Amino acid sequence: MIKERIQEALNHQLNRELYSAYLYLSMSAYFESLNLKGGANWMRVQAREEETHAMKFYNHLIERGGRVTLSAIEAPPSEWGSPLEVFEETYKYEQKVTGLINELVNLCTSEQDQATNNFLQWFVAEQVEEEASANEVVQKFKLAGEVGGRLFMLDKELGQRGGA
Ligand code: FEO
Repeated sequence: MIKERIQEALNHQLNRELYSAYLYLSMSAYFESLNLKGGANWMRVQAREEETHAMKFYNHLIERGGRVTLSAIEAPPSEWGSPLEVFEETYKYEQKVTGLINELVNLCTSEQDQATNNFLQWFVAEQVEEEASANEVVQKFKLAGEVGGRLFMLDKELGQRGGA
């Protein structure tokens, strides 16, 4: 049986993962509005990934005999200044998520919940990847600058991200 404090924290993180999906879907819609189909695809894939993250928390709670409680998902922003700004925000946002995962690990250590701690290690590794992939695109947008042809090529590359 899972402890009350851990259950509450995992339900909160489940909500944050659903918010992440919502945020990336909103970013995808922003790229669609600019007719940048590659960026829209990248963000749509990212949104799907976040849904799978949310379901991992959902399933862990159920497996441990806990209770899933769903709360309201905050509305994400819908406008950004530029494609680069979107990816800069993504990078910053993922760093914030890493902090939340680390706090959960610390809570599990203090509550001596080894099973949840073990479950969270997948997220610890995943966050390294999440930060790296967002930062990689930030650097590519910076390199491309405002040059139309390079932006077009980069958008094409983002369209190749599979999974959606
Ligand atoms: Fe679920 Fe992007 O972290």
